[in-house]
Amino acid sequence: MKKRIAIFASGAGSNAENIIRYFADNQEFEFPIIISSKENAYVHQRAKKLGVKSFTLEFKEYLDWEVLHDILIWQQIDYVILAGFLLKIPPLILELFPQKIINIHPALLPKFGGKGMYGSRVHRAVCAAGETETGITIHYVTENYDEGNIIFQAKCRIAPDDTPEIVAQKVHALEYEWFPKIIEQTINNS
Ligand code: GRF
Repeated sequence: MKKRIAIFASGAGSNAENIIRYFADNQEFEFPIIISSKENAYVHQRAKKLGVKSFTLEFKEYLDWEVLHDILIWQQIDYVILAGFLLKIPPLILELFPQKIINIHPALLPKFGGKGMYGSRVHRAVCAAGETETGITIHYVTENYDEGNIIFQAKCRIAPDDTPEIVAQKVHALEYEWFPKIIEQTINNS
């Protein structure tokens, strides 16, 4: 049976696209839906181009999470991948997918994680702290931001004159290289 995976993404969706392209010829995995918290997120255009259904939910009320819960059951989803999804996942969804929700964070957790640490804010904080290395963390999702068990980390060097934009490019390169492979390995071994 194919593993059916939902991607949650609030933003540009470059990781979502990279993951879907990586698995394009794989008979074991399919990606039937992308769920976003933003109507105008660029990920919807990528979804259209890739031929994947995408939905926006407002998530202002618990009711939206109940709707999402029902969509995930209706779509027979086995795993959830968070690729730039900005909201905290509530118990309702965590209970439906125990150890089956995986997130990527653009820094080396436990440093530079938690509420408000997302996107360019992370890279700015890393540079401001004078770090000499940063990287990616792929981890299971719990009820708290960026706190679940770590599955994988990869590092890159930061040169003294690297700007947050340059650091973001280095981190994105690591994300594109590793996130699909680690998803594949983690799910195959679960
Ligand atoms: C990535 O840097 C990811 O680590 C973080 O959000 C960003 C999403 O970028 N969680 P994109 O939308 O995939 O381009």
